[in-house]
Parts: sequence; C-alpha cells; structure tokens
Amino acid sequence: MPDTAELSNPLREGIRLRRTPDPCAMVIFGASGDLTERKLIPALFYLSRERMLPAGFSVIGCARTPSTHEEFRREMTDAVKKFLHLTTESDAFVDGFGKGLHYIADDFSDPKAYEQVRAILERLDQERGTAGNRLFYLATPPSFFPVIVKHLGAVGLAKPKVAGKTWTRIVIEKPFGRSLESAGELNRAVTSVFDENQIYRIDHYLGKETVQNLLVFRFANGIFEPFWNRRYIDHVQIAVAEELGVESRGAYYEEAGLLRDMIQNHVLQLLSLVAMEPPATFEGTAVRDEKAKVLRALRPIPLGRVQDFTVRGQYAEGYVGGGKVPAYRTEPKVSPASNTETYAAFKFFIDNWRWADVPFYLRSGKRLPRRVSEISIQFRRVPHLLFRGADGIEPNILSIRIQPNEGISLKFCAKLPGTTMQIRPVEMEFRYGESFGAVPPTAYETLLLDCMLGDATLFNRDDAVELSWELVDPILDRWKQDGAKGLAFYAAGSWGPAEADAFIERDGREWQRL
Ligand code: NDP
Ligand code: BG6
Repeated sequence: MPDTAELSNPLREGIRLRRTPDPCAMVIFGASGDLTERKLIPALFYLSRERMLPAGFSVIGCARTPSTHEEFRREMTDAVKKFLHLTTESDAFVDGFGKGLHYIADDFSDPKAYEQVRAILERLDQERGTAGNRLFYLATPPSFFPVIVKHLGAVGLAKPKVAGKTWTRIVIEKPFGRSLESAGELNRAVTSVFDENQIYRIDHYLGKETVQNLLVFRFANGIFEPFWNRRYIDHVQIAVAEELGVESRGAYYEEAGLLRDMIQNHVLQLLSLVAMEPPATFEGTAVRDEKAKVLRALRPIPLGRVQDFTVRGQYAEGYVGGGKVPAYRTEPKVSPASNTETYAAFKFFIDNWRWADVPFYLRSGKRLPRRVSEISIQFRRVPHLLFRGADGIEPNILSIRIQPNEGISLKFCAKLPGTTMQIRPVEMEFRYGESFGAVPPTAYETLLLDCMLGDATLFNRDDAVELSWELVDPILDRWKQDGAKGLAFYAAGSWGPAEADAFIERDGREWQRL
C-alpha cells in the first residue's frame, strides 16, 4: 500500500495533467459500508491531496447506521489513515479533507432521507460553492439500486438543477442486477429517471492501471499480436484470488455470491480485453464494441452441462496470514446452511476464428492464501524435442500481473550453465514499481475523476452488462437447483477445493502457481 511520499510520484503526473472537474458535491448511498471506507474515501482523499478535486468539494454519506456528521468525519479520516497507512505529518491534511464530509442516517426506503439530501445539497451550494453539480454514488447492495433511483426521481434530484448549466450524474456499482431479467428491469428503472448520458455503470477493474496497460501491451507493440491466437496459444488462465473473507459484508454477499460479485463483471471484463480484436481507435465506442463482440462469441454453457464446465466452493474455517479465521457459514449475517459460493472455477470457449478451441480457464475465490490477480497466456509446447533426454522443457508463459507488484513476465527455457545439456525455465520481468519508480493511481481515483469530468470511456455499456448475464444466468440457475449438491468446501487459506485441481487436470493442464 502506498504511503504519503508516493502521493507525489511520476505515475500521478498523468492524473495531475488532467483538467480539474467543475465544483460539485457527491452523495454516497451506503456510506457506512466496506466499499466507502476501503476504496471510495481513500481515493477521494488522494485526489484531494493531488489538488485534483474542485474547491469546496463535499461528500454527503447516507446509510442506516446512526452517526453524526462529526462521527462520520472521524470514522472516514480514520479509514484514510488505516487504508493508506498514512504517516502523522499528513494528519492535518486528512483532517482538512474530513471537513467536507457530511452524514445522513436513514433507511433508503424513507422519502425523508432524500428530502434531507436535497436540503444539504442546497446548503452546500451556498456555503461551499458546489454550484449545483451532483454526483450520486450507489455503493449499496444491488437490491437497493431501483429504490434509490426511484426516490431520487420523485424528489426531483435526478434532473440537473439548472438545465444546460449544471450536471447531475449517477454511478451504479456492480453487479448491475442479479440476472439478465433483473438487469433489464434495473436498466428500465434507471433510464426512466436518468438519461443514458447521466448513467455511469462502474466496474473498477476497468480503471486499474495494469488492465489499461493490457491494451497498450497488445496494441502498441508489434511482436505480440501475431502470436495472439489459437495457432500459438494453448490456453489462457485468469485468476483473481483474495485473502479477504466476507467479514462484515454477509448481507450483501448472501444475495450476490462469487459468480455475481466477481465473474459476471470483473473477470469477464478481463477476458474480453485479453481476447478482443484491435479496435479502430482507443476511443470509448470502438473499445466497447470490440469487447461486446467477445462476450457475444463466448459459448454459453448449456444448463445440462454446467457441472462439466464449472466448480463451486465455499470456505470452511482455516488459517490466513497466521491467524485462525471462521467458516463462511459462521460469518455475521450469513445463514448457517448457506450454499453461497465463495470460490468458483470455469472453462469457457470463444467461438471465433482467433480463439476456436482455446480454453479460457477462470477462477476466483475468497480466503485464498494471497491477494493476487493474474492473467497467464500459456503457449503451445514446441512441436519437436531437439534436445533428447533433456528434461525441464516447459511451455512459454506470458504472465500479466494485475495486482500486487503490477507487471509482466515471460517464462522461457534456457540452458543451465555446464558441460551437459540441461534446460531450465527462466523469467524476463517488467515491474511497474522498478521501471517507473512508483505505484500507479488506484482504479477508483481514475474512475471518480473520469466521472466528474463526464468521460464514460472506462464505464460499462448496457449491452456488455446484459451479454455477461446471458452467460451467467444458466450457471446460476443450475447451481440454485443443485443447492448443496456439488458445493465443494475448502479450508480458508488453501488455494480452493481439490475439485478445482481435478477439473483442470482432467484436461491435462494445471493451475498456474500464483
Ligand atoms: P456493505 O454491505 O459493506 O455496505 C452496504 C451499505 O449499504 C452499508 O452502508 C449499509 O448501511 C447500507 N444499507 C444497506 N441497507 C440499507 C438500508 N435499507 N437503508 C440504508 N442503508 C442501507 O457492502 P459493500 O460496501 O461491500 O458493497 C456495496 C456495493 O459496492 C456492492 O454493489 C459491491 O458489489 C460494490 N463493490 C464493493 C467493493 C468492496 O471492496 N467492498 C469493491 C467494488 C464494488 P448500514 O450498514 O448502516 O445499514
Ligand atoms: C469488489 C467485490 O467488486 O471487488 C469484492 O465486491 C472484492 O468482493 C473486490 O473484494 C476486489 O477488488 P480489488 O480491487 O481489491 O481486487
């Protein structure tokens, strides 16, 4: 995690060179939740420290937990210090940032909450010069998205305060819906209140620096693209592993599960960037069109064969980072009989000329040994073994590390020094930290700023959201029908259930070590 020294680093130059957004206020629904304290508030703090937020920028947090403005400020400034590991010199600045934070304690179903939001927004326009520009952020369990949108419309907060002069935008977290049908309903509910150009469907993986770099790597270098196809690539693996468990997020997670929480959005987005054709330009519509084509070409898993293409698991108690952690079923707000998956692995195929018959293995899980996200492109074995008797010949692997230690490495074979022909795999490595001397901005910094500036390039379009649900729906249906049948357990702190190893080994392959 970066410290304050890194707040002024060369990789932040790009952010600094951007225009400062118009004066505005941001309303966060779900302000007592994990996303707000872990990601949103620290990102806003960074932006503020970089002088990228407009003067007078203010936040109104809204959630059920009773709290005063003062208590909320204290909690959020503590969160900034905790999650950014800030040193004491920066305390004064953190406290200054805290002064722009406000809080409303109410239930999202209560119309009075929205009247209060409106009253505070009006006051902030006068007192802090937020100029009538508003950003609403839905950081809540997805079942509340339609409720909040409806109330914002009813109280007149969805339209710009002064038509043509001020803006109002809404950021909607993932998962956008719970199924294809509910995503469609949500879309209709949101578009009946907000215009499409006001809506920002966020998937924060698209704002990660390494994810954007994937496009640069593929399309700004001449040597990789010719090999990026079924002729040279044996298979692709995408892994998003987390050390974190569900902890305080039981209520949300019970309605989501890993497939909705990570695969339908983040992991399928990564897959579409790895597999897409070169877009004509690096411009919103062109990139989004190519990504959508990949999702359209992904072969749906038939309901009757879900068990052949997927594995699902749930963590039992175990040890993570040297400490004992509880089983998922004993986490707060989780049913003791829950069949919600906290781990899943999949095999997908993309039915097009570039990727026909190349398996894409995806896996993600909570309470695994480490937080690591990586894409590995595994090339075909050499067609003929020239070095008879030499062992150690392994296929080339190109690994794109999304986090942590962002970078790219290529594994290839080399001769072990000596008088005999012995071969060993070695690695060529690029690491952001070493090459550029610093850590990149976080995804939420990039995306919050984009949204305040009105740039939707890195946000999801409704067609991509619906195409992903089309793929995921049959799997969800089948898992629901199966209940506990087929749910494999794994000890927290292990790399997932044994069934997941057997799953890939059946194809004569193995999971890449992370
Ligand atoms: P949490 O469960 O931690 O937070 C949910 C928030 O919603 C809390 O502030 C809770 O308030 C509030 N809330 C729930 N019901 C009501 C209600 N009836 N009235 C008022 N407030 C209510 O969830 P997360 O923060 O983890 O996730 C929120 C969203 O963000 C999800 O869509 C998730 O997919 C997405 N997300 C989360 C990330 C993360 O790292 N956590 C990262 C990326 C996306 P209270 O507790 O006070 O009732
Ligand atoms: C969120 C999920 O979308 O992504 C969380 O809701 C998960 O469950 C988080 O922990 C992971 O994000 P990151 O950026 O830490 O990999």
